[in-house]
Amino acid sequence: MGKEVTCGELTRADEGRRVTLQGWVNSRRDHGGVLFLDIRDRWGRTQTVFNPENIKAFRIADSTRSEWVVAVTGTVRLRPAGTENARMATGEIELAAEALEVLNAAAPLPFEISDDSLPDESIRLKYRYLDLRRPGMLRNMELRHRTVKFIRDFLSERDFLEIETPILMKSTPEGARDYLVPSRVHAAEFYALPQSPQQLKQLLMVAGVERYFQIARCFRDEDLRADRQPEFTQLDLEMSFVNQEDVLRLAEDLFIQLTETVTAKTIQTKPFPRLSFQESMDRYGTDKPDMRFEMEIHDVTSLVAQSGFKVFSSTAKSGGTIRGISVPGASTFTRKQIDELTAMAQSFGAKGLVWIAVENTEKGGEGYRSPVAKFLSSKELSALTATLGAGNGDLLLLVADQRPVALDVLGRLRSHLGETLDLTDTAVLAYAWIVEPPLFEWNADEDRWDASHHPFTAPIPGQEELLRTRPEDAKAEAYDIVCNGYELGSGSIRIHRREVQADVFRLMNYSDEEIEARFGHLLRAFEYGAPPHGGIAPGIDRWIMLLAGEPNIREVIPFPKNQTGVDLMLGAPARVDERQLRDLHLLVRQPSKSQE
Ligand code: AMO
Ligand code: AMP
Repeated sequence: MGKEVTCGELTRADEGRRVTLQGWVNSRRDHGGVLFLDIRDRWGRTQTVFNPENIKAFRIADSTRSEWVVAVTGTVRLRPAGTENARMATGEIELAAEALEVLNAAAPLPFEISDDSLPDESIRLKYRYLDLRRPGMLRNMELRHRTVKFIRDFLSERDFLEIETPILMKSTPEGARDYLVPSRVHAAEFYALPQSPQQLKQLLMVAGVERYFQIARCFRDEDLRADRQPEFTQLDLEMSFVNQEDVLRLAEDLFIQLTETVTAKTIQTKPFPRLSFQESMDRYGTDKPDMRFEMEIHDVTSLVAQSGFKVFSSTAKSGGTIRGISVPGASTFTRKQIDELTAMAQSFGAKGLVWIAVENTEKGGEGYRSPVAKFLSSKELSALTATLGAGNGDLLLLVADQRPVALDVLGRLRSHLGETLDLTDTAVLAYAWIVEPPLFEWNADEDRWDASHHPFTAPIPGQEELLRTRPEDAKAEAYDIVCNGYELGSGSIRIHRREVQADVFRLMNYSDEEIEARFGHLLRAFEYGAPPHGGIAPGIDRWIMLLAGEPNIREVIPFPKNQTGVDLMLGAPARVDERQLRDLHLLVRQPSKSQE
């Protein structure tokens, strides 16, 4: 396989062996006439030593610079006592070099290849092929490989078939904008890149495949964030003749076994906790809670509805709610820190933030420090403290507003505080299932119902009738797997009856013509014996980001786009020739200044 030995494998047992190492000059040290070159490859580093007595090899070695590609031939010997390096796999030996061949020189690098000093991300992305030489990036690529291999083995053992679906496809309603590909042959017509293989995997169930999976590329034109790329990978899977419990069990087994095989991280709770969507919103203010720490949200409306503090009493009277959290050990926050939290709460949409520092309650001291303490009775203050589970040294934060605002603001403050107070141990993975979300959300702008997950999701058994009577009350047989504050994957049991599917499309305000044009293929397929089916699609990039303990998904994608969707290495997107445009029957409208 090419190399006789790698730079990561020689040990004490190889003493006396004559070998040739090929790799990159990682570092170069001159120790009083003796020259040390560390040669690096994918597997590690080996120290090579050049003695001036061998003048030819010494001169060539002396001329090399960082990242030159070389072949060094020599004999393995033990390092002199006291100079071993326990941190290196090859730290007990070195290669006494006899000859060095330069396979290729390298220009001075734009940055050092080292995990200890990272240049600006834009430089890393522009020279990604150099950035990927860093051991840390290499480890992420290896983790990615092991993860995908584990998935393939796990599902193959359970009789799943890996099947590829097209990339040139038709618009799919996953909720983002489509990337479009103009057709040359069919003027003015476009393919859409798949936002997911959702409809095709359902059609594979109609086809009788029963257990399908794919490591699937998905494309979504949406605003990018730390956990989003325009192009990403899902483990897409689907099964026939299953209920929700079957899918959750299979996925949970996969999540647990994979995590325990490819990482040393701890899974916080097994089996994974299951929270209803409503419960997750009420306790954490989000549908993707970080359950590594508590700081749960509590409803304190009834405790302070009659209070002398106008903000509370008037909010309660007008049908709003008062919710709060207790921040552990935060009673010592400075005025500046609290002002920052208040500003943050306001930027999240709150009208304000009430804070109460709990101090000395036991010693008969004043007990509470807060600008509003004077408006609250001691009974109210102690009820708040008890309900929020607070004690001396904690800081209560309260928001009075409509339920969705109060929960959202506190949920976001909770995440922020979890990070800043160091409650988010990256060695722990707190997986959980969020189940029973509402089937629809009302879209006031467009005056129609939107599917909360996607329109192919079934209502929970027995609720089909609600589609026609009270769609707002229908719950979906859908589930999200969440971990450490991220949504890792979503899935659902699907509608497999034509009439129910058509009802859903109608609720979403599609005309009969639109239904036929966009989804005719699926409805037709459902007429020919569609089995009950369901599945799930974990996002592989996000999952590996968490498994690797990285702060964003670009660290686990070999060639990612930057925050504005640009590939800085390739320079994409880019303009194309006039002739290519003509072939595609396209006329480009120059963007107005504001769009540039
Ligand atoms: P959904 O749209 O929730 O469901 O996507 C499933 C998972 O894919 C990942 N993901 C992303 N990862 C990186 N960048 C993005 N832009 C991005 N968008 C989504 C997330 C997410 O949880 N067809 C359905 C699944 C099903 O019902 O089986 C679907 O695509 O980890
Ligand atoms: P005000 O009466 O507006 O001066 O507010 C008094 C205190 O209550 C300030 O600390 C505000 O930040 C806080 N506050 C005002 N409105 C709300 C609200 N809706 N929820 C929580 N705190 C609020």
